[in-house]
Formats: sequence, C-alpha cells, structure tokens
Amino acid sequence: MSRKKLIVGNWKMNPNSWEEARMIVRKTNNIAKNLQNLEVVVCPPFVYIPVISPRKKVSVLGLGAQSVSVDTEGSHTGEVGAPMLKSLGVEYVIVGHSEQRERGDDDGVVSKRLENVLEAGLKGIVCVGEKSRDENGIYLDLLKEQIKKSLANVPEKEADRIVIAYEPIWAIGASEAMNPEQVYEMSLFVRKTFADIFGQECAMKVKILYGGAVTFRNATDILNIGKVDGFLVGRESINVSGFVELLKVVEECV
Ligand code: PGA
Repeated sequence: MSRKKLIVGNWKMNPNSWEEARMIVRKTNNIAKNLQNLEVVVCPPFVYIPVISPRKKVSVLGLGAQSVSVDTEGSHTGEVGAPMLKSLGVEYVIVGHSEQRERGDDDGVVSKRLENVLEAGLKGIVCVGEKSRDENGIYLDLLKEQIKKSLANVPEKEADRIVIAYEPIWAIGASEAMNPEQVYEMSLFVRKTFADIFGQECAMKVKILYGGAVTFRNATDILNIGKVDGFLVGRESINVSGFVELLKVVEECV
C-alpha cells in the first residue's frame, strides 16, 4: 500500500536566533513548494513557532512541536499546552523522543502527552526505539512493550492521527544509520505491533518513519529497501543544503 511520504525535521534546540530560524524555513519552503509527492513538516523549538506559523499563507510546510505538557492549562510554570499549539497552527507534536525519555519521560508520561495531543485535535509523532540489542531478541519484547504502553490511551478511532517514528537510540546522533535491511525488519515489527493493538486495517494506514543519522546519502536505500513512509530527521534538518538534497532525493523515490 502506498502512503504519501512524510519528512519531519526535528530542529531540537537549534538554531540560536529567530533570524536563522526564518532563513531555514524560507529556504526549505522554497524547495518544498515544488514537490508533489511528500509532506514536509518542521518542528522548531516552541519560541520559533509564531515566526514560522503556517497561518502566514506562503508556507507549504507543516508545523510541528517537539513536545507538549502533560497538563492542559493552569498553574504549570514553564509548560506549553496542546491547545496553545493548536491555536498557533501546529499540526503535529513529537512525543517520546529518546532525548526526553532520557530526561525522565517514561511510557506513562509519553501516553499522557499523546492523549493531550489527540484531545486538542493534533497529530502525534510517537518515537520508539531500542537502546541496544542482545542475542536473545529481548529488545524486541521491550520495543513491543514500549509501543503498547505509549499508545495505551489512544482510542481506535484516533489511531489515524498517529505516526510512529522508529528510532534505534544508538543511531541517533551517530555517524551511520541502521542498515536498510534491518530497517525493513523493524518497520514490519512495528506495524505488526500496531496491528495487534488497533487491527490490521489501521496498521496498513499508519505511517512508520525511520529516524537516526538520516542524510540525503542514505535516504534512498532506507526508503526503497527499508520500506518506511518517511523520516524523522535531526541534524540534517537544520543543515539547509543537506535537507534540500534530502527532500529532492525522497521526492524522486516515490
Ligand atoms: P539525527 O537525530 O538525525 O541527528 O541522528 C534524529 C532524531 O533525534 O530524531
């Protein structure tokens, strides 16, 4: 089944000024507007969201946020709620990124954040992935459990607003991505787990992204052999020339 490719740029805590943020968006947008076959989403830090809100109609880029509060409103200093994001034109929110799991988000917190995302009418990009591998395949059990627990509060009718980003933690920020054959196996495993929860029909529709050291150099093989529906891209998404190349390569793969 062919699903439109989705490329999500996770800027993390970059760049250091809104002028640079605007520049990255302008250049990315200039390329994205000529692409037919893919959806491109940028996830800047919260503070830059108003700078690049798609309400400024010239942008074809989808807008995402990198996280969201477990609360929805009220006395929660430093937090940003899902309804706020919605009101700024945000469409997607990343939850469960390993860098947030590292800072204390367990599956319960991830599932609470996701619940708020869905309740606000937004779409959730749920990151999952194993820390390391072992010869007995225990990492597969752990991954399955992580997926099930992270999606624990999602009603079946909202499963179509979920995207899964499979990111083996050892490939994030690394010099090399997972090899495409392994990506293929893992994407099958993730889809099968999704089917166990929501049924086969939902599982055929869900987009499964790969993340971890994606560049324009390895993207074609990971898409063609790995058979994922797109990428969650970290470093390369703020390296404008590399990201532009990546978008072009993916467009040609489709
Ligand atoms: P990377 O990060 O592309 O820089 O490896 C991926 C991610 O953290 O989502």
